[in-house]
Amino acid sequence: MPTAASDTAQAAASAQAAASAQTTSSAQTTSSGQTTPSAQAGDIVIDICGVNKWYGAFHVLKDVNLQVCRAERIVICGPSGSGKSTLIRCINRLERHQSGRIVVDGVELTSSLKGIEKVRREVGMVFQDFNLFPHMTVLQNLTLAPVWVRKMPRRQAEETALHFLERVRIREQADKYPGQLSGGQQQRVAIARALCMNPAILLFDEPTSALDPEMIKEVLDVMIELAEENITMVCVTHEMGFARTVADRVIFMDGGEIVEQNTPEAFFSNPRFDRTRQFLGQILKH
Ligand SMILES: Nc1ncnc2c1ncn2[C@@H]1O[C@H](COP(=O)(O)OP(=O)(O)OP(=O)(O)O)[C@@H](O)[C@H]1O
Ligand SMILES: [Mg+2]
Repeated sequence: MPTAASDTAQAAASAQAAASAQTTSSAQTTSSGQTTPSAQAGDIVIDICGVNKWYGAFHVLKDVNLQVCRAERIVICGPSGSGKSTLIRCINRLERHQSGRIVVDGVELTSSLKGIEKVRREVGMVFQDFNLFPHMTVLQNLTLAPVWVRKMPRRQAEETALHFLERVRIREQADKYPGQLSGGQQQRVAIARALCMNPAILLFDEPTSALDPEMIKEVLDVMIELAEENITMVCVTHEMGFARTVADRVIFMDGGEIVEQNTPEAFFSNPRFDRTRQFLGQILKH
């Protein structure tokens, strides 16, 4: 469970330069029917290789391999407890993996604080439960990390914040406190906060699952717009409409493993494994 402190670190973490040379990724299907990125090595912005993680004796991530290309949009789905959150939290070192390699934009995640800081400058994260500071206004939530971590002049930070609030269509709420906003509005504030740090990569951990149905759409609409902007997105969600519309690749996890991955079209029309079919059968019923 992320704490307010870890969230600040995270907000602080999101990042500097939106990637300069954005290239559109493509995918190819291997003989096993799995889809892998076909871009050249230089295009891979997240490289997860043979990663294992344990919580005590519990093996939560089992030899996970995943390469994400710059500007690629990945949706991760799977049953509760399958390790989805753990995996994406490893990408910005909110969780530590015990073996294997995770390289984010050329920086390997190790215990080096310098490396972790560097990665966190590139990676923004949006959590299920927003993680806004309740005692700060929306504007203060958005300017905190740019001012204190990036040393951005306050006026410039406020201008940036208002720009992104406008983008998520919530500009008029700038002076309110999070408790005075709906869940959908709070999540849009959280997305704007991540954008204020200009991240190259955005991680979403079930950003709509704490929301009432009528608020889900307003958040998904914002995410769909973001997806058109070449930002690399890794999104844990069970919003399969979103996956179909936006994802370049859908990944299915179960029991700490990536069971199957494919383009949305192939994933939904022709799931290869029983576990995937069973899972899709359950969630597509709703
Ligand atoms: N800090 C922790 N300590 C011990 N076990 C943990 C910890 N965090 C997660 N787990 C366990 O690891 C497994 C994977 O958890 P994780 O949160 O990654 O799953 P998930 O796929 O995101 O599930 P959900 O869909 O419910 O969010 C679960 O069995 C969970 O109980
Ligand atoms: Mg989770």
